[in-house]
Amino acid sequence: MITCSAPAKVYLFGEHAVVYNESAICCAVNIRTRVNIEYSENIVINSSLGTTGIDYEIHPYVSAVVDKIRKKSPYRGVSISIESDIPVGSGLGSSAAVVVATICAFNNLLKLGMDKESIASFGHSIEKEIQGAASATDTYVSTMGGTVAIPARRHLKNPLCNLVIGNTNVFSSTGQLVAKVASLKNIYPEVITPILSTIGKASLRGESLLENEDYRALGELMNVNQGLLEAIGVGCDELSRLIHSSRTAGALGAKITGAGGGGCMVALAENENIDAISREIKNAGGIPIVTGVTDSGVRVD
Ligand code: MEV
Repeated sequence: MITCSAPAKVYLFGEHAVVYNESAICCAVNIRTRVNIEYSENIVINSSLGTTGIDYEIHPYVSAVVDKIRKKSPYRGVSISIESDIPVGSGLGSSAAVVVATICAFNNLLKLGMDKESIASFGHSIEKEIQGAASATDTYVSTMGGTVAIPARRHLKNPLCNLVIGNTNVFSSTGQLVAKVASLKNIYPEVITPILSTIGKASLRGESLLENEDYRALGELMNVNQGLLEAIGVGCDELSRLIHSSRTAGALGAKITGAGGGGCMVALAENENIDAISREIKNAGGIPIVTGVTDSGVRVD
């Protein structure tokens, strides 16, 4: 049996702006999805959602990987079992993590000889097939780990701080939120385009703040980025409550991570404040997850 795992991701800066080729900073975080694989008579896919064969309703991402790999390198059957600590559909890249962990598991079982670049780009093609459109960032960061400047894909210094994620548990559709920003930009191009470009500038400034380990300023700019995300209409009451409670509890900065409209926020936190921030996120109706950046992208466990 082979077990591979892959991490979730958060945006320190730049979601939405990145869709318009502005800069962003994305980090792999130590919340993982694990995929076990072994040879079997049939195809069996097991997760908390149920036990199926190839099934595009219940296990679309894993089924797509199974199908694609079978066409390239035929095999009789495999039994795949998935366990995940990444909340699904919350902007933390759960689908990217399950896709790259499954590809890595096949790569090792069938000795396919794929390097990490190939795993990331194969993973992106699977996400595109299932979602229609998908940014390559999630699969890239989950495969490579660390802190990555987008679109350059340059590795930056990891923040030596904790990250406290707050999950609103409110479903949001990335596609709808990206379309909402596109529509605002269409109606008010002279207003919205400079906001997106300012988000990109905050992200670029964030790169040098990470380099200098200036986390106070980094947090301040994350707060500025949050204001700009509100301005382009991707905030919501539940996220605002978690963000403001985190700041009151001592976060250096707090903002949406991912598409917004629900899903998760992320707070940059020093050790002494993580308990208070987690408590306040809970009191404000969210589910806190204390984590940090990991250099460990997809791996064999
Ligand atoms: C969603 O996680 C990030 C967005 O920028 C969309 C994308 O980059 O595909 C909102």
